[in-house]
Amino acid sequence: MCSYIQIIINLMKSVVILISGRGSNMQALLEASLPVRVAAVISNNPDAAGLEIAKTHNIETSIVDHRKYLDRESFDLALAKKIDSYQPSLIALAGFMRVLGDNFVNKYKGKLINIHPSLLPAFPGLGTHKQALKEGVKIHGCTVHFVTSEVDHGPIIIQAAVRVLPDDTNETLAARVLLQEHRIFPEAVHLFVEGRLNFSGNNVEVCNEISDNSVLYSSELHE
Ligand code: GRF
Repeated sequence: MCSYIQIIINLMKSVVILISGRGSNMQALLEASLPVRVAAVISNNPDAAGLEIAKTHNIETSIVDHRKYLDRESFDLALAKKIDSYQPSLIALAGFMRVLGDNFVNKYKGKLINIHPSLLPAFPGLGTHKQALKEGVKIHGCTVHFVTSEVDHGPIIIQAAVRVLPDDTNETLAARVLLQEHRIFPEAVHLFVEGRLNFSGNNVEVCNEISDNSVLYSSELHE
């Protein structure tokens, strides 16, 4: 017989998390006490360290190894079949390092979100911190967005910015951005499961958002 707690958990919206490696963003979602049921963590990489973290949280894990499929289309189909077996309301790409094809992306339009370590649309793709340092930007950060068929592009849900310091290295900058990733990704999932995200075109509206209209500057203003 189900306990009341089990009944409540079953009524919660469910999320499937996709990972490829370390899994720190996945871990941030698992440890954020979100009002969601994480149905499964799926990895395309059987050696992803995040799989072990998921297991310690008693989350079901599954592997769809891209190397076992002839092409992107057949991998995407196998991945979609696995995802659909959990019937999730939301699919969260948490460091999932495979490009997903148009059919896959369109199938999950509006319920597929990604975390990216830059202030999109600046620096899509890999090596974002290196690019930020090379370009000499004063502010860098991270973005959670709905996924579209254009890689690292799509309606932006939340961004967080950090100052780029004169002595920053790839590693120090990445570490500061990662802290912010762990803050905004759970927040975005929370907004999604509360049904507070509406988007039309490229614009995401966050319902009942409390804002103080703060402005961020790249250096302190002096009177
Ligand atoms: C994160 O920086 C994420 O934004 C990017 O890949 C990295 C994955 O890190 N897409 P982790 O696996 O979540 O620790």
